Amino acid sequence: PVPVIAIDGPSASGKGTVAERVAAALGWKVLDSGSLYRIVALAATRAGVALDDEAGVAAIAASLPARFEDGKVLLGGDDISTDIRSEACSVGASKVAVLPAVREALLGRQRDYRVAPGLVGDGRDMGSVIFPDAQIKIFLTATAEARAGRRYKQLMEKGLPANMQSLLDDLRERDARDAARPVAPLVKLPDAVLLDTTELDVEGAVAFVLDLVRD
Ligand code: CDP
Repeated sequence: PVPVIAIDGPSASGKGTVAERVAAALGWKVLDSGSLYRIVALAATRAGVALDDEAGVAAIAASLPARFEDGKVLLGGDDISTDIRSEACSVGASKVAVLPAVREALLGRQRDYRVAPGLVGDGRDMGSVIFPDAQIKIFLTATAEARAGRRYKQLMEKGLPANMQSLLDDLRERDARDAARPVAPLVKLPDAVLLDTTELDVEGAVAFVLDLVRD
């Protein structure tokens, strides 16, 4: 089978950046699965569908007219790359992500990313649900304070509003929701390698993952 590196972990742990860099080093594809939940939340909000309307949101997820092009995320003809990174969209994504029908609707779309020579998947359930046979599974984490600090920096760099205390509160709330949901909860799998990046920079984390691939 086409090799997969599954990187799962809590919000703002640096999964996205590490996944991108590892994929670039190997010449593999990346699946940013969180962006799919973000796009669904945004599309539902724009369509006036409540984020707890499971059938309504799942219908949107099943026929999502979204594309990834030149580093941009397009919904219909709209560039939503910046919109989906807002805190409102982060919260919305974690709300639609608890709905089993929504997760089911996004399953095939995610598995389609598995093409030669390989895939790096970034999310919460890459190793548990989407690619349970992944050759390498990593649980990437850091303390909530370190993660909130990184998200703050990211938002500032994008010129988006950011407040440290509300970021920390949001992170904790979303972590709790991701860990407590009955379907695809975020857990460290027994066969996943723990990578704590509280004291480790991106280069260090990327080197750690590439070492696992070369072993
Ligand atoms: O960067 P951050 O971790 O905050 O967000 P993300 O990875 O883009 O994911 C946004 C939300 O989507 C998360 O809070 C999860 O609730 C949900 N998600 C999920 O349930 N399963 C995935 N494979 C990826 C994201």
